[in-house]
Amino acid sequence: MSSIDRSGTFTLGGRTVKRLGYGAMQLAGPGVFGPPKDHDAALAVLREAVAFGVNHIDTSDFYGPHVTNQIIREALHPYPDGLVIVTKIGARRGADKSWIPAFSSEELTQAAHDNRRNLGVDAIEVVNLRCMFDPHHPAEGSIEAPLSVLADLQRQGLVRHIGLSHVTPTQVAEGRRICKIVCVQNYYNVAHRDDDALIDELARDGIAYVPYFPLGGFNPLQSSSLDAVATRLGATPMQVALAWLLRRSPNILLIPGTSSVEHLRENLAAAECVLPDDAIKELNHVAGIVQA
Ligand SMILES: NC(=O)c1ccc[n+]([C@@H]2O[C@H](COP(=O)([O-])OP(=O)(O)OC[C@H]3O[C@@H](n4cnc5c(N)ncnc54)[C@H](OP(=O)(O)O)[C@@H]3O)[C@@H](O)[C@H]2O)c1
Repeated sequence: MSSIDRSGTFTLGGRTVKRLGYGAMQLAGPGVFGPPKDHDAALAVLREAVAFGVNHIDTSDFYGPHVTNQIIREALHPYPDGLVIVTKIGARRGADKSWIPAFSSEELTQAAHDNRRNLGVDAIEVVNLRCMFDPHHPAEGSIEAPLSVLADLQRQGLVRHIGLSHVTPTQVAEGRRICKIVCVQNYYNVAHRDDDALIDELARDGIAYVPYFPLGGFNPLQSSSLDAVATRLGATPMQVALAWLLRRSPNILLIPGTSSVEHLRENLAAAECVLPDDAIKELNHVAGIVQA
């Protein structure tokens, strides 16, 4: 048994994936723009992830743009059986590295084709609609028009399954009335727990919740509680942060990002880290949650 098998599995769309996966955003250049500093190192991270048994990779054609998907294709194509690549559409990049909403029917359709071509697949396994009403915080607004475009692309066979990203619970409910939603990808980690209720609701309905920034994103998590628990367990703070997410709910799928093989190995070894109840209690305080 590979160590990441200990993370368990979950059904994402039509496929079973291990709960510990990999997020490829960090493979583009600084500011998620342009080529990576070290192209060969980026290829090595992806190949190492798959060698370790990762079968769920998160990406988007707006990382780079195009760069991350092209690196995934170069590193891994022809893809091993069972590898699920999840992408997202709904934004494009400005020349100044900005993130610009791209929600029109033409832009969404173009983005789906770009993802498919750059990844080198006939159909994309899962596509998340990344909402951009406010690029920094989920903000209310109907998603009916853009999601209907994605549902059409699914009917045409370009997209197998649909997810949502950067959304409010109201938008998740609206989305579920329009088409089958297999995953929700929002900002969540041990210190940022706005989606606690949403995670529980999705778990009841068998829908995956995929936290982005599981390690804190561009400013990795720093917490004396993470440090203390890690020291007690002989683990690292990042492993404890990931182990906490694995323990939080069975529908949580992890996609920690890294550009380093060393960090990748450390993160995947989090599957071996079992948190006792007193550690969970201590870690709940990181987000100011006090449980009886
Ligand atoms: N839907 C969305 O809107 C959205 C937004 C953001 C991200 N995402 C997805 O979520 C994935 C994960 O997010 P993320 O990569 O931004 O954030 P993350 O996984 O929370 O953290 C990545 C950061 O932590 C560092 N890091 C990783 N492992 C480490 C370790 N063991 N020790 C110390 N530092 C470590 C990385 O630097 P190194 O490269 O030096 O390891 C990088 O700076 C992305 O890859 C992307 O696929 C989605």
